[in-house]
Amino acid sequence: MAAPPKTVLDASAAEEKAIREAVRNADPATLGTGRVLATEAHAGAAFDLLADPAVSEPIYALPKPLTLASVKAWIADAEAARERGEGLLILTMVESGPVMGYAKITVWPDRASAELGGALRTSLQGGGAGGAGAAHTIAWIFKTLKVRLICLTAATDNIRSAKLIDRMGFKRKGERDALRPDGTTRRSIYWELTRDEWEDASPR
Ligand SMILES: CC(C)(COP(=O)(O)OP(=O)(O)OC[C@H]1O[C@@H](n2cnc3c(N)ncnc32)[C@H](O)[C@@H]1OP(=O)(O)O)[C@@H](O)C(=O)NCCC(=O)NCCS
Repeated sequence: MAAPPKTVLDASAAEEKAIREAVRNADPATLGTGRVLATEAHAGAAFDLLADPAVSEPIYALPKPLTLASVKAWIADAEAARERGEGLLILTMVESGPVMGYAKITVWPDRASAELGGALRTSLQGGGAGGAGAAHTIAWIFKTLKVRLICLTAATDNIRSAKLIDRMGFKRKGERDALRPDGTTRRSIYWELTRDEWEDASPR
């Protein structure tokens, strides 16, 4: 269950409306090749990706238990969130069918803020693709969805994620208990990055 950032930004009514429209109109193809919005038709392929514990175990916000039905419901929730302008679930597909990874973006338009979560298929992990993909996705979120703040969490033992999040310039802001859909909690390291910090660090 995504929780909004610790830092509270107040969006004006006009900014909130612009963010909701940006989320509804965002074209996932502009994020990269093979990127599509998840629909019910993808449920089986998404379940196949998430059924691998090396993909899904580190992520607090996935349905528990993970079943085809719970993945279908997760996709339906994400589609409803997109219609409200409050989130996107983007899959990376290859032509032969399998889902190679996903990005789940939760947006709080009234706070001009977002959270990103995601994973790669095990065969792609540990080779630098996640680090490159995460930085690219963060840039896309700031530019396309018009938010001013992004927060991230990772389990305290998720070394790869912590390394890549630190490397992207996110600032550690303590820890938080991330609430799983089954009501249990997971201790997490917590980071934030503002759009101004990201722009200052980005090559022009
Ligand atoms: C997290 C994830 C997207 C990272 O992508 P990745 O391609 O595996 O990661 P990278 O190869 O880019 O490596 C990230 C960093 O971890 C380091 N690393 C890679 N494998 C490592 C290992 N086994 N032990 C320690 N560090 C490792 C890399 O050197 C890199 O550090 P650097 O940026 O300082 O060079 C991917 O591993 C994944 O999907 N994991 C499962 C789900 C998950 O954890 N999601 C994130 C929840 S916050």
